[in-house]
Amino acid sequence: MSAKKNVDLLVGAQWGDEGKGKVVDMLGSDVDVFVRFQGGANAGHTVITDGQKTVFHLLPSGMLYPGKLCVLGNGLVLDPEQFLAETGELFAKGQDRARLAVSPHAHVVMPYHKMLDKLQEEARGKGRKIGTTGRGIGPCYVDKYSRSGLRVEDLIDADILRERLTYILDEKNQIITRLYNQKPLAFDEIYEPARKWGEALAPYVDDTRALLRRAADEGKHILLEGAQAALLDIDHGTYPYVTSSSTSAAGAFTGTGLAPNDLTRVIAVVKAYTTRVGEGPFPTEDFTEMGEKLRANGGEFGATTGRPRRCGWLDVPALRYSMELNGANVIALTKLDVLTGMGGIKVCTAYEKDGTRFTSWPTDTRTLSEIQPVYETLPGWDDDITNCKSFDELPANAQAYVKYIESALNVPVALIGVGADRNQTINRGM
Ligand code: GDP
Ligand code: IMO
Ligand code: MG
Repeated sequence: MSAKKNVDLLVGAQWGDEGKGKVVDMLGSDVDVFVRFQGGANAGHTVITDGQKTVFHLLPSGMLYPGKLCVLGNGLVLDPEQFLAETGELFAKGQDRARLAVSPHAHVVMPYHKMLDKLQEEARGKGRKIGTTGRGIGPCYVDKYSRSGLRVEDLIDADILRERLTYILDEKNQIITRLYNQKPLAFDEIYEPARKWGEALAPYVDDTRALLRRAADEGKHILLEGAQAALLDIDHGTYPYVTSSSTSAAGAFTGTGLAPNDLTRVIAVVKAYTTRVGEGPFPTEDFTEMGEKLRANGGEFGATTGRPRRCGWLDVPALRYSMELNGANVIALTKLDVLTGMGGIKVCTAYEKDGTRFTSWPTDTRTLSEIQPVYETLPGWDDDITNCKSFDELPANAQAYVKYIESALNVPVALIGVGADRNQTINRGM
Protein backbone atom coordinates (compact mmCIF):
# COMPACT_ATOMS: atom_id res chain seq x y z
CA MET A 1 0.00 0.00 0.00
CA SER A 2 1.35 3.40 -0.89
CA ALA A 3 1.16 6.36 1.50
CA LYS A 4 -1.67 8.89 1.31
CA LYS A 5 -1.12 11.12 -1.71
CA ASN A 6 -0.30 14.76 -1.20
CA VAL A 7 -0.20 16.35 -4.65
CA ASP A 8 -1.42 19.92 -5.12
CA LEU A 9 -1.93 21.59 -8.47
CA LEU A 10 -1.83 25.38 -8.60
CA VAL A 11 -3.20 27.14 -11.68
CA GLY A 12 -3.90 30.68 -12.81
CA ALA A 13 -7.62 31.39 -13.18
CA GLN A 14 -7.65 34.48 -15.42
CA TRP A 15 -5.16 35.67 -18.09
CA GLY A 16 -1.98 35.15 -16.09
CA ASP A 17 -0.02 37.21 -13.56
CA GLU A 18 -2.47 36.42 -10.77
CA GLY A 19 0.42 36.07 -8.30
CA LYS A 20 1.07 32.35 -8.72
CA GLY A 21 4.76 32.76 -7.86
CA LYS A 22 3.99 34.39 -4.55
CA VAL A 23 1.45 31.72 -3.59
CA VAL A 24 3.84 28.88 -4.50
CA ASP A 25 6.56 30.51 -2.42
CA MET A 26 4.18 31.16 0.46
CA LEU A 27 3.05 27.51 0.54
CA GLY A 28 6.61 26.32 -0.02
CA SER A 29 7.84 25.62 3.51
CA ASP A 30 5.52 22.62 3.57
CA VAL A 31 6.37 21.33 0.06
CA ASP A 32 8.90 18.58 -0.83
CA VAL A 33 8.86 18.78 -4.63
CA PHE A 34 8.13 21.82 -6.83
CA VAL A 35 7.27 21.17 -10.49
CA ARG A 36 6.79 23.21 -13.68
CA PHE A 37 4.96 21.21 -16.35
CA GLN A 38 3.98 23.44 -19.29
CA GLY A 39 4.91 26.68 -21.01
CA GLY A 40 8.42 28.02 -20.84
CA ALA A 41 10.22 31.28 -20.25
CA ASN A 42 7.10 33.21 -21.27
CA ALA A 43 6.14 32.96 -17.58
CA GLY A 44 7.23 35.59 -15.08
CA HIS A 45 6.57 34.48 -11.51
CA THR A 46 7.55 36.99 -8.85
CA VAL A 47 8.62 36.05 -5.35
CA ILE A 48 9.40 38.68 -2.71
CA THR A 49 10.99 37.64 0.56
CA ASP A 50 12.26 40.18 3.07
CA GLY A 51 12.10 42.87 0.42
CA GLN A 52 14.25 40.80 -2.01
CA LYS A 53 12.61 40.28 -5.42
CA THR A 54 13.23 37.23 -7.61
CA VAL A 55 11.43 36.64 -10.91
CA PHE A 56 11.33 33.04 -12.15
CA HIS A 57 10.71 32.46 -15.84
CA LEU A 58 11.58 28.82 -16.31
CA LEU A 59 12.47 27.43 -12.90
CA PRO A 60 9.81 26.57 -10.30
CA SER A 61 9.11 29.33 -7.78
CA GLY A 62 10.24 27.01 -4.96
CA MET A 63 13.89 27.38 -5.95
CA LEU A 64 14.55 29.68 -3.00
CA TYR A 65 13.96 26.86 -0.50
CA PRO A 66 17.30 25.21 0.21
CA GLY A 67 17.46 21.45 -0.18
CA LYS A 68 14.07 20.95 -1.82
CA LEU A 69 13.67 19.23 -5.16
CA CYS A 70 12.61 21.23 -8.22
CA VAL A 71 11.49 19.47 -11.39
CA LEU A 72 11.14 20.68 -14.97
CA GLY A 73 8.66 18.24 -16.49
CA ASN A 74 8.36 16.85 -20.01
CA GLY A 75 5.57 19.25 -20.98
CA LEU A 76 7.82 22.28 -20.70
CA VAL A 77 9.55 24.02 -23.59
CA LEU A 78 12.99 24.70 -22.24
CA ASP A 79 15.12 27.59 -23.44
CA PRO A 80 18.69 26.50 -22.56
CA GLU A 81 20.07 30.05 -22.54
CA GLN A 82 17.38 31.10 -20.08
CA PHE A 83 17.93 27.94 -18.05
CA LEU A 84 21.65 28.64 -17.73
CA ALA A 85 21.11 32.32 -16.96
CA GLU A 86 18.51 31.59 -14.28
CA THR A 87 20.36 28.72 -12.62
CA GLY A 88 23.64 30.68 -12.89
CA GLU A 89 22.14 33.60 -11.01
CA LEU A 90 20.72 31.40 -8.26
CA PHE A 91 23.78 29.23 -7.84
CA ALA A 92 25.93 32.36 -7.63
CA LYS A 93 23.87 33.11 -4.51
CA GLY A 94 24.91 29.73 -3.11
CA GLN A 95 21.99 27.48 -4.09
CA ASP A 96 22.57 23.73 -3.96
CA ARG A 97 22.91 22.15 -7.42
CA ALA A 98 21.54 18.68 -6.67
CA ARG A 99 18.05 20.01 -6.27
CA LEU A 100 17.09 20.35 -9.90
CA ALA A 101 15.85 17.56 -12.23
CA VAL A 102 15.07 18.10 -15.91
CA SER A 103 13.02 15.76 -18.06
CA PRO A 104 14.88 14.35 -21.09
CA HIS A 105 11.58 14.72 -22.96
CA ALA A 106 11.15 18.47 -22.49
CA HIS A 107 11.40 20.22 -25.84
CA VAL A 108 14.18 22.69 -26.47
CA VAL A 109 13.47 26.28 -27.54
CA MET A 110 16.06 26.87 -30.25
CA PRO A 111 17.24 30.27 -31.56
CA TYR A 112 15.19 29.79 -34.72
CA HIS A 113 12.02 29.42 -32.61
CA LYS A 114 12.57 32.83 -31.06
CA MET A 115 13.38 34.27 -34.48
CA LEU A 116 10.24 32.77 -36.04
CA ASP A 117 8.08 33.96 -33.12
CA LYS A 118 9.13 37.55 -33.91
CA LEU A 119 8.89 37.18 -37.69
CA GLN A 120 5.41 35.65 -37.43
CA GLU A 121 4.21 38.44 -35.18
CA GLU A 122 5.56 41.07 -37.57
CA ALA A 123 3.89 39.33 -40.49
CA ARG A 124 0.55 39.15 -38.67
CA GLY A 125 0.79 42.91 -38.21
CA LYS A 126 -1.52 45.30 -36.41
CA GLY A 127 -4.97 43.91 -35.70
CA ARG A 128 -3.82 40.30 -36.13
CA LYS A 129 -0.79 39.93 -33.90
CA ILE A 130 -1.14 37.95 -30.69
CA GLY A 131 1.23 40.09 -28.63
CA THR A 132 3.42 37.11 -27.71
CA THR A 133 6.30 37.37 -25.30
CA GLY A 134 8.73 36.64 -28.15
CA ARG A 135 10.17 33.69 -26.24
CA GLY A 136 9.71 31.18 -29.09
CA ILE A 137 6.92 29.32 -27.31
CA GLY A 138 4.47 28.89 -30.22
CA PRO A 139 7.06 27.80 -32.83
CA CYS A 140 8.63 25.33 -30.36
CA TYR A 141 5.29 23.66 -29.58
CA VAL A 142 4.51 23.59 -33.32
CA ASP A 143 7.71 21.60 -33.88
CA LYS A 144 6.87 19.29 -30.98
CA TYR A 145 3.50 18.41 -32.47
CA SER A 146 4.76 18.21 -36.05
CA ARG A 147 7.52 15.90 -34.75
CA SER A 148 10.31 18.21 -35.88
CA GLY A 149 11.37 19.19 -32.39
CA LEU A 150 14.57 18.60 -30.46
CA ARG A 151 14.20 17.23 -26.97
CA VAL A 152 16.68 17.73 -24.14
CA GLU A 153 17.92 14.15 -24.70
CA ASP A 154 18.68 15.00 -28.35
CA LEU A 155 20.93 17.85 -27.28
CA ILE A 156 22.97 15.54 -25.11
CA ASP A 157 23.78 13.03 -27.86
CA ALA A 158 26.09 14.84 -30.31
CA ASP A 159 25.45 12.35 -33.16
CA ILE A 160 21.67 12.50 -32.87
CA LEU A 161 21.82 16.28 -32.56
CA ARG A 162 23.89 16.57 -35.75
CA GLU A 163 21.64 14.19 -37.64
CA ARG A 164 18.31 15.73 -36.57
CA LEU A 165 19.45 19.33 -36.71
CA THR A 166 20.72 18.89 -40.30
CA TYR A 167 17.24 17.97 -41.46
CA ILE A 168 15.37 20.41 -39.21
CA LEU A 169 17.56 23.41 -39.99
CA ASP A 170 17.22 22.78 -43.70
CA GLU A 171 13.44 23.04 -43.29
CA LYS A 172 13.70 26.16 -41.10
CA ASN A 173 16.00 27.85 -43.58
CA GLN A 174 13.48 27.29 -46.35
CA ILE A 175 10.91 29.17 -44.25
CA ILE A 176 13.34 31.86 -43.12
CA THR A 177 14.62 32.64 -46.64
CA ARG A 178 11.58 32.03 -48.85
CA LEU A 179 8.74 33.18 -46.62
CA TYR A 180 10.46 35.89 -44.60
CA ASN A 181 13.30 36.98 -46.93
CA GLN A 182 15.89 36.65 -44.20
CA LYS A 183 19.43 35.26 -44.35
CA PRO A 184 19.67 31.49 -43.71
CA LEU A 185 21.14 30.28 -40.42
CA ALA A 186 24.51 28.53 -40.66
CA PHE A 187 24.57 24.98 -39.28
CA ASP A 188 27.58 25.49 -37.00
CA GLU A 189 26.12 28.70 -35.59
CA ILE A 190 23.27 26.64 -34.19
CA TYR A 191 24.94 23.25 -33.69
CA GLU A 192 27.96 24.38 -31.64
CA PRO A 193 26.06 26.28 -28.92
CA ALA A 194 23.40 23.54 -28.83
CA ARG A 195 26.04 20.90 -28.16
CA LYS A 196 27.40 23.01 -25.30
CA TRP A 197 23.88 23.49 -23.92
CA GLY A 198 23.49 19.70 -24.03
CA GLU A 199 26.69 19.28 -22.00
CA ALA A 200 25.51 21.85 -19.47
CA LEU A 201 22.05 20.29 -19.15
CA ALA A 202 23.23 16.66 -18.91
CA PRO A 203 23.94 16.64 -15.14
CA TYR A 204 20.34 17.66 -14.39
CA VAL A 205 18.61 15.16 -16.66
CA ASP A 206 16.63 12.49 -14.87
CA ASP A 207 13.57 10.31 -15.41
CA THR A 208 11.28 12.94 -13.91
CA ARG A 209 8.14 10.88 -14.47
CA ALA A 210 9.53 7.96 -12.43
CA LEU A 211 10.89 10.36 -9.83
CA LEU A 212 7.49 12.05 -9.40
CA ARG A 213 5.73 8.68 -9.38
CA ARG A 214 7.90 7.57 -6.47
CA ALA A 215 7.50 10.85 -4.62
CA ALA A 216 3.70 10.74 -5.01
CA ASP A 217 3.50 7.12 -3.83
CA GLU A 218 5.64 7.92 -0.80
CA GLY A 219 3.21 10.66 0.20
CA LYS A 220 5.69 13.49 -0.46
CA HIS A 221 4.06 16.89 -0.83
CA ILE A 222 4.27 17.77 -4.53
CA LEU A 223 3.25 21.21 -5.78
CA LEU A 224 2.60 21.42 -9.52
CA GLU A 225 2.98 25.06 -10.58
CA GLY A 226 0.98 26.07 -13.63
CA ALA A 227 2.19 28.94 -15.78
CA GLN A 228 -0.11 31.35 -17.66
CA ALA A 229 -3.78 30.69 -16.92
CA ALA A 230 -7.08 29.10 -17.99
CA LEU A 231 -8.18 31.87 -20.37
CA LEU A 232 -4.85 31.55 -22.23
CA ASP A 233 -5.33 27.77 -22.68
CA ILE A 234 -4.69 26.57 -26.23
CA ASP A 235 -8.03 24.69 -26.29
CA HIS A 236 -10.22 26.50 -23.79
CA GLY A 237 -8.87 30.06 -23.93
CA THR A 238 -9.68 33.03 -26.14
CA TYR A 239 -8.16 31.48 -29.28
CA PRO A 240 -6.15 32.63 -31.21
CA TYR A 241 -5.19 35.08 -28.45
CA VAL A 242 -3.80 32.34 -26.23
CA THR A 243 -0.49 30.68 -25.49
CA SER A 244 0.47 27.35 -27.08
CA SER A 245 0.09 24.97 -24.14
CA SER A 246 -2.59 23.40 -21.94
CA THR A 247 -2.62 25.86 -19.09
CA SER A 248 -5.61 24.47 -17.23
CA ALA A 249 -5.53 21.48 -14.89
CA ALA A 250 -5.41 18.81 -17.60
CA GLY A 251 -1.96 19.97 -18.74
CA ALA A 252 -0.44 18.84 -15.47
CA PHE A 253 -0.87 15.17 -16.38
CA THR A 254 0.49 15.19 -19.92
CA GLY A 255 3.22 17.54 -18.73
CA THR A 256 4.52 15.26 -15.95
CA GLY A 257 3.29 11.70 -16.45
CA LEU A 258 1.40 11.82 -13.15
CA ALA A 259 -2.18 10.56 -13.33
CA PRO A 260 -5.45 12.43 -12.61
CA ASN A 261 -6.13 10.36 -9.49
CA ASP A 262 -2.79 11.45 -8.02
CA LEU A 263 -4.21 14.91 -7.35
CA THR A 264 -5.29 15.87 -3.85
CA ARG A 265 -6.29 19.46 -4.50
CA VAL A 266 -6.54 22.08 -7.22
CA ILE A 267 -5.70 25.60 -6.05
CA ALA A 268 -6.96 28.32 -8.38
CA VAL A 269 -5.14 31.63 -8.08
CA VAL A 270 -7.57 34.52 -8.63
CA LYS A 271 -6.54 38.16 -8.70
CA ALA A 272 -9.08 40.42 -6.93
CA TYR A 273 -9.53 42.25 -10.27
CA THR A 274 -8.48 41.28 -13.81
CA THR A 275 -5.44 41.97 -15.98
CA ARG A 276 -4.30 40.86 -19.39
CA VAL A 277 -1.04 41.37 -21.34
CA GLY A 278 -1.01 41.12 -25.12
CA GLU A 279 -3.93 41.23 -27.52
CA GLY A 280 -7.37 39.61 -27.39
CA PRO A 281 -10.84 40.14 -25.92
CA PHE A 282 -11.14 41.35 -22.32
CA PRO A 283 -14.79 42.17 -21.56
CA THR A 284 -14.22 43.93 -18.23
CA GLU A 285 -11.24 46.05 -19.33
CA ASP A 286 -11.52 49.56 -17.85
CA PHE A 287 -10.26 52.29 -20.19
CA THR A 288 -10.96 55.10 -17.71
CA GLU A 289 -8.76 56.51 -14.97
CA MET A 290 -10.01 53.65 -12.77
CA GLY A 291 -8.16 51.18 -15.00
CA GLU A 292 -5.07 53.36 -14.76
CA LYS A 293 -5.43 53.48 -11.00
CA LEU A 294 -5.57 49.67 -10.84
CA ARG A 295 -2.40 49.53 -12.97
CA ALA A 296 -0.59 52.06 -10.79
CA ASN A 297 -1.72 50.63 -7.43
CA GLY A 298 -1.13 47.03 -8.53
CA GLY A 299 2.22 47.70 -10.24
CA GLU A 300 0.72 46.02 -13.29
CA PHE A 301 3.68 45.86 -15.64
CA GLY A 302 4.78 42.56 -17.17
CA ALA A 303 7.34 40.53 -15.19
CA THR A 304 8.71 39.09 -18.47
CA THR A 305 8.38 41.87 -21.04
CA GLY A 306 7.77 44.98 -18.90
CA ARG A 307 4.65 45.79 -20.96
CA PRO A 308 1.86 47.67 -19.14
CA ARG A 309 -0.90 45.19 -18.31
CA ARG A 310 -4.45 45.97 -19.39
CA CYS A 311 -6.59 46.32 -16.25
CA GLY A 312 -10.24 45.85 -15.38
CA TRP A 313 -12.72 44.30 -13.01
CA LEU A 314 -13.51 40.86 -11.69
CA ASP A 315 -15.45 38.81 -14.23
CA VAL A 316 -17.71 36.25 -12.54
CA PRO A 317 -18.86 34.31 -15.64
CA ALA A 318 -15.22 34.03 -16.79
CA LEU A 319 -14.18 32.79 -13.36
CA ARG A 320 -17.03 30.29 -13.13
CA TYR A 321 -15.86 28.88 -16.44
CA SER A 322 -12.30 28.75 -15.13
CA MET A 323 -13.34 27.01 -11.88
CA GLU A 324 -15.21 24.37 -13.91
CA LEU A 325 -12.32 23.78 -16.30
CA ASN A 326 -9.85 23.37 -13.48
CA GLY A 327 -12.03 21.53 -10.97
CA ALA A 328 -10.86 24.09 -8.42
CA ASN A 329 -11.18 23.02 -4.78
CA VAL A 330 -9.88 26.22 -3.21
CA ILE A 331 -9.09 29.77 -4.27
CA ALA A 332 -6.01 31.80 -3.39
CA LEU A 333 -7.27 35.38 -3.78
CA THR A 334 -4.42 37.80 -4.47
CA LYS A 335 -3.90 41.56 -4.46
CA LEU A 336 -6.94 42.43 -2.37
CA ASP A 337 -4.90 45.38 -1.02
CA VAL A 338 -4.83 46.95 -4.49
CA LEU A 339 -8.58 47.61 -4.24
CA THR A 340 -8.11 49.75 -1.11
CA GLY A 341 -9.25 53.33 -1.78
CA MET A 342 -10.78 52.49 -5.16
CA GLY A 343 -14.25 53.59 -4.06
CA GLY A 344 -17.00 51.24 -5.26
CA ILE A 345 -15.75 47.90 -6.59
CA LYS A 346 -17.27 46.78 -9.86
CA VAL A 347 -17.97 43.10 -10.49
CA CYS A 348 -19.23 41.76 -13.80
CA THR A 349 -22.12 39.33 -13.22
CA ALA A 350 -23.51 38.95 -16.75
CA TYR A 351 -23.07 40.15 -20.33
CA GLU A 352 -25.34 41.79 -22.86
CA LYS A 353 -25.35 41.54 -26.63
CA ASP A 354 -28.02 42.79 -29.02
CA GLY A 355 -30.38 43.40 -26.11
CA THR A 356 -30.02 39.88 -24.70
CA ARG A 357 -28.59 39.28 -21.25
CA PHE A 358 -26.75 36.04 -20.37
CA THR A 359 -24.49 34.75 -17.61
CA SER A 360 -22.37 32.13 -19.38
CA TRP A 361 -18.87 32.65 -20.81
CA PRO A 362 -19.28 32.84 -24.61
CA THR A 363 -17.59 30.08 -26.58
CA ASP A 364 -16.57 32.11 -29.60
CA THR A 365 -13.96 34.83 -29.62
CA ARG A 366 -15.95 37.16 -31.84
CA THR A 367 -18.89 37.22 -29.43
CA LEU A 368 -16.43 37.78 -26.60
CA SER A 369 -15.17 40.94 -28.24
CA GLU A 370 -18.71 42.23 -28.83
CA ILE A 371 -20.39 41.68 -25.46
CA GLN A 372 -20.98 44.42 -22.90
CA PRO A 373 -20.38 43.57 -19.25
CA VAL A 374 -23.22 44.04 -16.76
CA TYR A 375 -21.80 45.30 -13.47
CA GLU A 376 -22.83 45.24 -9.86
CA THR A 377 -20.98 47.71 -7.62
CA LEU A 378 -19.95 46.59 -4.17
CA PRO A 379 -18.95 49.00 -1.40
CA GLY A 380 -15.19 49.53 -1.07
CA TRP A 381 -12.92 50.37 1.88
CA ASP A 382 -10.20 52.91 2.62
CA ASP A 383 -8.30 51.38 5.55
CA ASP A 384 -4.84 50.03 4.77
CA ILE A 385 -5.04 46.22 4.89
CA THR A 386 -1.40 45.40 4.12
CA ASN A 387 -0.65 44.48 7.73
CA CYS A 388 -3.78 42.42 8.37
CA LYS A 389 -2.91 38.94 9.62
CA SER A 390 -6.38 37.44 9.95
CA PHE A 391 -9.68 37.58 8.12
CA ASP A 392 -11.35 39.27 11.10
CA GLU A 393 -8.89 42.18 10.92
CA LEU A 394 -10.05 43.09 7.39
CA PRO A 395 -12.56 45.95 7.05
CA ALA A 396 -16.14 44.68 6.86
CA ASN A 397 -16.47 45.59 3.17
CA ALA A 398 -13.27 43.71 2.30
CA GLN A 399 -14.62 40.66 4.14
CA ALA A 400 -17.89 41.04 2.27
CA TYR A 401 -16.04 41.16 -1.08
CA VAL A 402 -14.25 37.89 -0.28
CA LYS A 403 -17.52 36.25 0.77
CA TYR A 404 -19.20 37.55 -2.38
CA ILE A 405 -16.53 35.82 -4.52
CA GLU A 406 -16.89 32.56 -2.59
CA SER A 407 -20.60 32.57 -3.01
CA ALA A 408 -20.54 33.58 -6.70
CA LEU A 409 -18.01 30.88 -7.59
CA ASN A 410 -19.03 28.31 -5.02
CA VAL A 411 -15.38 27.68 -4.09
CA PRO A 412 -13.86 28.63 -0.71
CA VAL A 413 -11.22 31.38 -0.56
CA ALA A 414 -8.53 29.78 1.58
CA LEU A 415 -5.73 32.31 1.14
CA ILE A 416 -5.86 36.10 0.78
CA GLY A 417 -2.99 38.24 -0.47
CA VAL A 418 -2.73 41.70 1.13
CA GLY A 419 0.73 42.62 -0.17
CA ALA A 420 3.55 41.32 -2.34
CA ASP A 421 5.72 39.91 0.45
CA ARG A 422 5.56 36.23 1.42
CA ASN A 423 4.28 37.27 4.86
CA GLN A 424 1.50 39.52 3.59
CA THR A 425 -0.93 36.65 3.31
CA ILE A 426 -3.99 35.68 5.34
CA ASN A 427 -4.36 31.93 5.67
CA ARG A 428 -7.99 30.94 6.01
CA GLY A 429 -7.57 27.19 6.01
CA MET A 430 -5.31 26.47 3.02
P1 GDP B 1 2.38 35.25 -11.67
O1 GDP B 1 2.82 35.28 -13.08
O2 GDP B 1 1.00 34.71 -11.52
O3 GDP B 1 3.36 34.59 -10.75
O4 GDP B 1 2.30 36.79 -11.20
P2 GDP B 1 3.40 37.93 -11.49
O5 GDP B 1 4.58 37.70 -10.62
O6 GDP B 1 3.64 38.07 -12.95
O7 GDP B 1 2.60 39.23 -11.08
C1 GDP B 1 2.04 39.37 -9.81
C2 GDP B 1 2.60 40.66 -9.18
O8 GDP B 1 1.84 40.99 -8.06
C3 GDP B 1 4.02 40.53 -8.71
O9 GDP B 1 4.65 41.76 -8.83
C4 GDP B 1 3.86 40.15 -7.24
O10 GDP B 1 4.97 40.54 -6.45
C5 GDP B 1 2.63 40.95 -6.87
N1 GDP B 1 1.75 40.35 -5.85
C6 GDP B 1 1.43 39.04 -5.64
N2 GDP B 1 0.52 38.94 -4.66
C7 GDP B 1 0.25 40.19 -4.23
C8 GDP B 1 -0.65 40.74 -3.26
O11 GDP B 1 -1.42 40.05 -2.59
N3 GDP B 1 -0.66 42.11 -3.15
C9 GDP B 1 0.15 42.92 -3.88
N4 GDP B 1 0.07 44.23 -3.72
N5 GDP B 1 1.00 42.43 -4.80
C10 GDP B 1 1.04 41.08 -4.99
P1 IMO C 1 2.55 33.96 -16.20
O1 IMO C 1 2.93 32.52 -15.94
C1 IMO C 1 0.45 36.78 -18.75
C2 IMO C 1 0.44 35.92 -23.05
C3 IMO C 1 1.22 36.86 -23.96
C4 IMO C 1 0.38 36.75 -25.22
C5 IMO C 1 -0.03 35.28 -25.23
C6 IMO C 1 0.85 34.40 -26.10
O2 IMO C 1 3.55 34.94 -15.70
O3 IMO C 1 1.16 34.22 -15.73
P2 IMO C 1 3.32 33.43 -25.82
O4 IMO C 1 4.64 34.16 -25.69
O5 IMO C 1 3.00 32.54 -24.70
O6 IMO C 1 3.17 32.76 -27.16
O7 IMO C 1 2.22 34.64 -25.81
O8 IMO C 1 0.05 34.84 -23.89
N1 IMO C 1 1.24 35.34 -21.94
C7 IMO C 1 1.12 35.71 -20.66
N2 IMO C 1 0.36 36.67 -20.08
N3 IMO C 1 1.21 35.98 -17.98
C8 IMO C 1 1.95 34.99 -18.53
O9 IMO C 1 2.61 34.09 -17.79
C9 IMO C 1 1.96 34.85 -19.93
N4 IMO C 1 2.58 34.02 -20.80
C10 IMO C 1 2.14 34.32 -22.02
O10 IMO C 1 1.24 38.16 -23.44
O11 IMO C 1 -0.80 37.51 -25.07
MG1 MG D 1 3.60 36.59 -14.48
